[in-house]
Amino acid sequence: MILCPSLLSCDFGRLAEELSALEAAGLKWVHWDVMDGAFVPNITMGPPIIKKLRAGSSLYFDVHLMIERPERYLADFAEAGANMLCVHAEASLHLERTLAEIRRLGMHCGVALNPATSLNVLDYILEDLDMVLIMSVNPGFGGQSFIPAAMRKVRELADMIAARGLNTHIQVDGGVTPENTGDLVAAGATVLVSGSAFFAHPPYAERHQIFQEAARRGRTARVVNP
Ligand code: DX5
Ligand code: ZN
Repeated sequence: MILCPSLLSCDFGRLAEELSALEAAGLKWVHWDVMDGAFVPNITMGPPIIKKLRAGSSLYFDVHLMIERPERYLADFAEAGANMLCVHAEASLHLERTLAEIRRLGMHCGVALNPATSLNVLDYILEDLDMVLIMSVNPGFGGQSFIPAAMRKVRELADMIAARGLNTHIQVDGGVTPENTGDLVAAGATVLVSGSAFFAHPPYAERHQIFQEAARRGRTARVVNP
C-alpha cells in the first residue's frame, strides 16, 4: 500500500518544511488537492505553488484536479513538475482526449470518480489509465466522513481490473483512517490518501507505520479471502 498524505491538511504556511518532513519520514508520494471554486466549493492552489515546491522535493507529486475543464491547464501542471495528473470524469467532456494529452506531456494519468459516479464511465478507458481515484467523500473539503458505498466500489473496480489482466492502481481519497485502511486494502485499494487523519497525528514516521500495519492486516485478509 502506498500512503499518500493530502497536503490539504498540512500547514500551508510551511509547505516546504512539511514536504521535507514527509520525505524524512519515509513517505514516497504526496497528494496535491487543486480546487477551482467552480467544480468544488473551495479554492486551494495551482501550478505556480507546485512548481516552486517541486525544486526542493523528490517526492512523487500526485495531483488531484478538482477543476472544471482540466484540459485547459495540463501543460501548466506538466511544467510545474506533476508526476501523476488525475482529472474528474465529471469535469472533462472529451475525457479520452484529455488522458492522451496527459500522457503525451509525460505524466502518469488517472481518472477520479465522485461518490455518485458509476464505474461504467471507465469501461472504454480503463486500459489507458495508470490509476483510478475513488472518491469516498464528496470533494471540496478535508475532514469529512468516509461514505461506506465506496468500499463496494473499490471491490468491483478491483474485479474489473483483474478481469482485464491490468495492474492499474486503485486510489481511495476521503475519510481514510487507520481504522478503515485494512478493509480498503482487503477490497483492493493500492494507494490511500489521508489528510486530517495523517497530519493531526505527528510524528509522521510513526503515523505512517500505523497505516502500514493496518494495511498489512488487510493484505492478509485479502490473501485468506480473495
Ligand atoms: C477532498 C480531497 C481529499 C481530502 C482528504 O476534496 O480530495 O484529498 O482532502 O482529506 P481527509 O483525509 O481529511 O478526508
Ligand atoms: Zn484529493
